[in-house]
Amino acid sequence: MEAAHTWPKDVGIIALEIYFPSQYVDQSELEDFDGVSKGKYTIGLGQSKMGFCSDREDVQSLCLTVLQRLVERNNLSYDMIGRLEVGTETVIDKSKSVKTVLMQLFESSGNCSVEGIDTTNACYGGTAALFNALNWVESSSWDGRYAVAIAGDIAVYATGNARCTGGAGAVAMLVGPNASLMVERGLRGTYMCHVYDFYKPDLSSEYPVVDGKLSIKCYLRALDNCYQQYRAKAQAVMDREKNGSVFSLDCIDAMCFHSPYCKLVQKSVARLALNDFVLEANPDLTGKYTGLDQFRHLKLEDTYFDRDVEKAFLAASSQLYETKTKPGLMLANQVGNMYTPSLYGGLLSYLASKPASEMAGKRVSLFSYGSGSASSFYSLRVSTDLKPGSPLNRLVGSIANLEDRLAARTKLSPPEFDSVMKLREKTHHLAPYSPQGNPDALFPGTWYLTEIDEMYRRKYARTPLHSDGRGDVAEGAGSVEASEDRKA
Ligand code: ACO
Repeated sequence: MEAAHTWPKDVGIIALEIYFPSQYVDQSELEDFDGVSKGKYTIGLGQSKMGFCSDREDVQSLCLTVLQRLVERNNLSYDMIGRLEVGTETVIDKSKSVKTVLMQLFESSGNCSVEGIDTTNACYGGTAALFNALNWVESSSWDGRYAVAIAGDIAVYATGNARCTGGAGAVAMLVGPNASLMVERGLRGTYMCHVYDFYKPDLSSEYPVVDGKLSIKCYLRALDNCYQQYRAKAQAVMDREKNGSVFSLDCIDAMCFHSPYCKLVQKSVARLALNDFVLEANPDLTGKYTGLDQFRHLKLEDTYFDRDVEKAFLAASSQLYETKTKPGLMLANQVGNMYTPSLYGGLLSYLASKPASEMAGKRVSLFSYGSGSASSFYSLRVSTDLKPGSPLNRLVGSIANLEDRLAARTKLSPPEFDSVMKLREKTHHLAPYSPQGNPDALFPGTWYLTEIDEMYRRKYARTPLHSDGRGDVAEGAGSVEASEDRKA
């Protein structure tokens, strides 16, 4: 069939699903267990709880669970999907992709015609997967079917100061035209460079090698560079429209970030305010920039750990942070850094924080950072279609139970968390292996590992759904209708 010669309309995210583990450790209890000063993890880093997986779960089971949730809760069928992308840094096989494992779910539909494969670079892989999915829908290769981008990881660190910044989870994004979250065309700022801030050279271990302080500097430098590119492109659009305004954070309604820990996100908002201040030709020194003139001519590169600058701009951006960013930190605070899904957990948290009517038409910015490093700053517009059953209403309805799902988790003690970590460490890449964790502790509808045979082949089973077919404590999703732009 001949491809259309125009771009499909309003390409973006139609539906979103998240999976996070059914168990967590409390960060305040972990402070006591680790013997660090009280408040270091909870106040200093801004974390409350950390989700973690037993040996019953791996990245493939996480992605199986989230993909099946997306398909079931949106009444999709697997033959409606023509591209499937997976972004992950939890590599359990150096050749076979997670995507091919997910193809098991497509078998009964007979659909083996599914493009896309895995993408890896630290926490950025999910964004690369999403960009690939969006680009496919806007390309001559598109055949009219949906694309799905999945981001999934198990984030674990060796004992020490980084361990409290772990987490785990997976997000699935249904991508196509007529989306509820339309990605803004031409507004991407990207910054990539070579740096050893966080990497995983030891293939026999789940743990990364981390230079924590360097990783923070690299994150902030990437943010500066991506935002400046984004800002210039957004300004060019405004200039073309001749509206005479200067682009600033005021032009963004909500700001989501990759969140290694929430405090860094708060500092990132301050960093963006600093960028606006330094880049603006005529900043209003008697208005929103009152008292900041002493910082007017500093070099951004010199300020990553400058306490005076940080303090001044944390104060200057506090309102921005409270209104535009904090609502998007619920999952980051409650589950931790999920790596690739972290940013999209932020988007979900924001969408779950308000009624659809308050978000309609808003611009949401997203900053994605993956160590090594790869980063992008881009934005999407929330649809204004508030008709009953509209894609936006269905999307917001489908995640309205996020807090209930978080509250339904089981708290394990730090010694229990520690023994699970030790078990994962001891049995990592062991074959044959029979996992010991209790599958009954998982949420309904969760895929889990049943065995690894002597040829390292992994087998999975799924915990039963509720008797009424529900996969968690409450459901709100409706069905996604076939896109009007579908050609196949
Ligand atoms: N009460 C309140 N605040 C406290 C307390 C306390 N009792 N104790 C410490 N703090 C504050 C510190 O002052 C510090 O604040 P600051 O960031 O404003 O300076 C903060 O808590 C953290 O304390 P540090 O001593 O700086 O923490 P440490 O160096 O031990 O570890 C780190 C933090 C580097 C983030 C570590 O957890 C790590 O390496 N994590 C993994 C790497 C990471 O996440 N990097 C971010 C980008 S890359 C990525 O996404 C993986």
